[in-house]
Amino acid sequence: MDRPTRVIEVDAEDPAREALAEAAEVIRAGGLVAFATETVYGLGADATNPDAVARIYAAKGRPAFNPLIVHVVDGAMARDCVAEWPAAADALAAAFWPGPLTLILPRSGLIPDIVTAGHASVGVRVPSPAVARGLIAAAGRPIAAPSANRSTGVSPTLARHVLKDLAGRIELILDSGRTAVGLESTVLDLTARPPRVLRPGAITAEQIAAVLGEPVEEGGGSADRPVSPGQMDVHYAPRARAIRLEAEALAAFTWPESAALIVLGGPLTSASPAGVRRYDLPTPEVAACELYHALHECDEAGVGLVVIVPPPDRPEWRAVRDRVGRATREA
Ligand code: TXA
Ligand code: MG
Repeated sequence: MDRPTRVIEVDAEDPAREALAEAAEVIRAGGLVAFATETVYGLGADATNPDAVARIYAAKGRPAFNPLIVHVVDGAMARDCVAEWPAAADALAAAFWPGPLTLILPRSGLIPDIVTAGHASVGVRVPSPAVARGLIAAAGRPIAAPSANRSTGVSPTLARHVLKDLAGRIELILDSGRTAVGLESTVLDLTARPPRVLRPGAITAEQIAAVLGEPVEEGGGSADRPVSPGQMDVHYAPRARAIRLEAEALAAFTWPESAALIVLGGPLTSASPAGVRRYDLPTPEVAACELYHALHECDEAGVGLVVIVPPPDRPEWRAVRDRVGRATREA
């Protein structure tokens, strides 16, 4: 692409119809539009157009084996994308859509191979923001959208983060401000028995199990079931070196000149040295919302080392712990 990326500011609650119509036109013409979901900004293309979807992989530098999530406006459009719609999908859609839950189901013929990286299943979700839903509705077709960052980078929570990674590689960004949840959706594999959470998110395995009335497995995958292809070890990594350090090890730590400290689940009584940029993120909700934002801020400030004190190993912290594990190396 040789033209610069355009940015259109839109009201998050009440986006202008002309802006949505213009963005929808780009999607229908096979172009790429970044837009905010409640989790992170997504990089959208017409999910039914293989050439448009191929441009997503190219723009992100995403490996061809990592499938994309398809964003739909409601349950009816979700059903067009899948070959089976089990009772469990109905119950979960009623409970959590629109919202940060992706359901993996057998795909229908509407969804081309390139979207699912050749898998027989497809991930579908209904995002909640008016901008996302308005765009899908105006385009009149499902929109494939991974997070709008270069592959292995930190997912964007602001339009500015998208521009930094993808300027000149995509047609348009709809800037509706900061995303609310801040971490990517929960990915639930409904083709597995029992259902399995492939990526933890704001909607927890416990909440899902309560709706389904059956147990839900979590994490890792097993020899007979590979993990979600996107759950590779180093992912979501900032440009700075990022390490995990338990709180007890902080006192003896030798701080380099340019550093930041992110404390998850504190409070931490010991002060960090002057000049160390510091983030205290005490609850899972605050941490989810602020973690990527903080990592982007550190990158923008040119911080050399980010030290992260991981949160307690408790269920409510699972999603944050998962992302911290992927963004850091052990000290
Ligand atoms: O919150 C989100 O989910 C954001 C916003 C934009 O919706 N999207 C997002 O997409 O995080 P992405 O591409 O960065 O992550 C999608 C994850 C990957 O781990 C991918 O492997 C997994 O979902 N996934 C997608 N389709 C799948 C499938 N058919 N089977 C297994 N895993 C799948
Ligand atoms: Mg991603």
